[in-house]
Amino acid sequence: MVIPGKVLLTENEIKKKVKELAKRVSLDYKGEEVIMVGVLKGAFVFLSDLMRVVKFPVKVDFMAVKSYRGTETTGEVKVLLDLKEEIKDKNVLIVEDIVDTGLTLNAVRGILEKREPKSLKICAFLDKKGRRRVKVKLDYVGFTIPNKYVVGYGLDFEDEYRGLPYVALLEEE
Ligand code: IMP
Repeated sequence: MVIPGKVLLTENEIKKKVKELAKRVSLDYKGEEVIMVGVLKGAFVFLSDLMRVVKFPVKVDFMAVKSYRGTETTGEVKVLLDLKEEIKDKNVLIVEDIVDTGLTLNAVRGILEKREPKSLKICAFLDKKGRRRVKVKLDYVGFTIPNKYVVGYGLDFEDEYRGLPYVALLEEE
């Protein structure tokens, strides 16, 4: 049985980082309207915190893609839910919980690029750099973390532990 163990990022560290990111993002968009696209399910916690501290008008939309089974990457990415809104000529900021192999974001970016947004950027809460299989340009990153499976702050293991206000390593009981 695996359970959340050592805390990697505390609630306070996360709060501070979200504020920092919001500052940078707000400077870059300077009052332009932005559609934040959350990649479900994991990104909704980060997105909801981020959208409340940025200083520009935000619209929100979601995509759901599946690329994982347990803690194993399969290499497959399937779109389960697409955007409700048109993004042509709009500023789009993809908001992702964690970038691991990069396959998910790469697929999402490819799909959205074809719809000709005015701009397309990526904001990832966590970056597991060491596991990258495809190159993805990340415009904003919260924390770079080691190659360990983490849960909390939206991140799950088999749909559990998303509600933890901190990020913890998943460990054997
Ligand atoms: P990628 O396609 O390999 O980059 O995987 C990205 C997706 O895998 C994320 O959106 C998460 O849903 C999931 N994922 C990757 N690593 C973790 C982790 O450590 N904890 C929870 N979910 C993870």
